[in-house]
Amino acid sequence: MLICTPPTNRTTLKGKYMLLNVQAIILAAGKSSRFNTNKTKLTEKICGQPMVLYQIKVLEALNIPLCMVVGHQKELLISLIQESDAPNVSFVSQEIQQGTGDAVKCTQYLWQHDNILIMNGDIPLITPTIIEELYTKHTQSNAAITFVTAHDNNPNNSYGRVIQKNNSIEIIEAKHLANIQDHCCVNAGIYLAKRTFLEKYIETIQLNPITQEYYLTDLIKIANDNQELVETVTAPFDYVRGINTLEELWAAEQIKRSELIRNWMQQGVRFGTAQNVHIDLPVVIGAGSYIGSGVHLIGSTQLGANCTIHPFSILENSTLQDNVTVYSHSVIKDTHIKNNAEIGPFAHVRNHTSIGQEASIGNFVEIKNSSVGDQTKARHLTYLGDASVGDRVNIGAGTITANYDGVNKHQTIIQDHVSIGANNSIVAPVTIHHNACTAAGSTITENVPAYALAIGRSRQINKEEYVRHKEKKEKDMSKKTGESTDTCNAHFTDALKMNNSFTPSAE
Ligand code: UD1
Ligand code: CA
Repeated sequence: MLICTPPTNRTTLKGKYMLLNVQAIILAAGKSSRFNTNKTKLTEKICGQPMVLYQIKVLEALNIPLCMVVGHQKELLISLIQESDAPNVSFVSQEIQQGTGDAVKCTQYLWQHDNILIMNGDIPLITPTIIEELYTKHTQSNAAITFVTAHDNNPNNSYGRVIQKNNSIEIIEAKHLANIQDHCCVNAGIYLAKRTFLEKYIETIQLNPITQEYYLTDLIKIANDNQELVETVTAPFDYVRGINTLEELWAAEQIKRSELIRNWMQQGVRFGTAQNVHIDLPVVIGAGSYIGSGVHLIGSTQLGANCTIHPFSILENSTLQDNVTVYSHSVIKDTHIKNNAEIGPFAHVRNHTSIGQEASIGNFVEIKNSSVGDQTKARHLTYLGDASVGDRVNIGAGTITANYDGVNKHQTIIQDHVSIGANNSIVAPVTIHHNACTAAGSTITENVPAYALAIGRSRQINKEEYVRHKEKKEKDMSKKTGESTDTCNAHFTDALKMNNSFTPSAE
């Protein structure tokens, strides 16, 4: 029997109602056994934020004091919450996980307010509006207990079904219900009860003989049997999805991510292929920006206006000012990039790096813990580590800073207007003063004065007619022996002899 109406359009009521005299309990002690990951599901992230923090922040926004029932891996959960930006939670320990009814019982000594809001800990997409609607219905109807229902006609889901017949109402768990396909009104796991009602009846919940758990949901039948008023409010199913499996976590993240992307589209951000872009909750994107297919924007990343992020680039905890272009397959972490700079393709920029205005960082360039000045170019196959590179510097292809001596890291300073030739090894600590240049192929081990040219390489020697001599010797050898010569061997021995006959001189 269908007893709940499908979700209707609803307006945000946030701020319209004051939620007076309410305290909340979040049930978070469960074993997360359906996750099969051996860790509590509540620390898993959805769009970069641990699942458990979503509900805490909704309650915080509504100014509702909160206590959380913890048990399985409680140390992990408590430290995660205490280190978060929403740490005002008190904790109650449920030592043995004997069901949701038992979990609520553990909090009894903390009940002070007239209304107790009880929520499962695995409903991350819940909104303040749903809590406000629950509160309004509960207080206006003066019910003993009011709970949130939703409409879902998937007979395979594990939600408790709300069964209403004549004047009776009860919740029966899916696993105890035979004709599940006939019941598509599900219990969302969000309840608002009068404290006096809870105090009177919480102890009357019986142990379920099949699962050996105390079901909080039994309170609905208990209320009904004792002529206590039970009310319901209906919420859109997507907002009250419980996350019991990795598949449900994936589905919830899809919903949250779509919501974020839709929001950024409304703010003027264009997405190449929105369905495979990953965006975390705190990410900010400026208007006119373009986000390519497969891009990941992680953590506290902020993009200015008109930035272009080409496909499959990953930006984590990084700030880009306006008009920055990141070409495909670049990885950028903990980095600040100024206006009009270009990065990639295939660049790796990380660990507190800053890139100046209009700088150009090209393919296969890695930059770590360095600052790169305005209009500086490092366009091909380069490593800059622990370097301070000035403005309008040109770094030739294949250049590296040798910053590590096996024990310590050392700094390289390259001042403004320096030109580094191709394939340089710059051995730190070293300073190349402004307007200096270095020759291609140099190994720079000493400071270079301003305006100087530094050459740090072997001089080239051309051995005239070398190849002709070699070929003639080979021919002579084969004539002499009259045997078929192993040309490879002869070639090798001869080459060795000739090479030993000279030593290159240093410049
Ligand atoms: C519960 C409801 C079900 C509802 C569904 C909505 C019960 C008996 N069933 O089922 O009617 O449709 O939520 O999502 O309540 N927990 C504890 N201590 C325990 C057991 C669980 O703190 O001993 C916590 C869990 O960490 C979890 C929450 O309670 O956050 C709900 O437990 P869960 O096992 O997920 O209940 P469901 O089977 O989803
Ligand atoms: Ca659940």
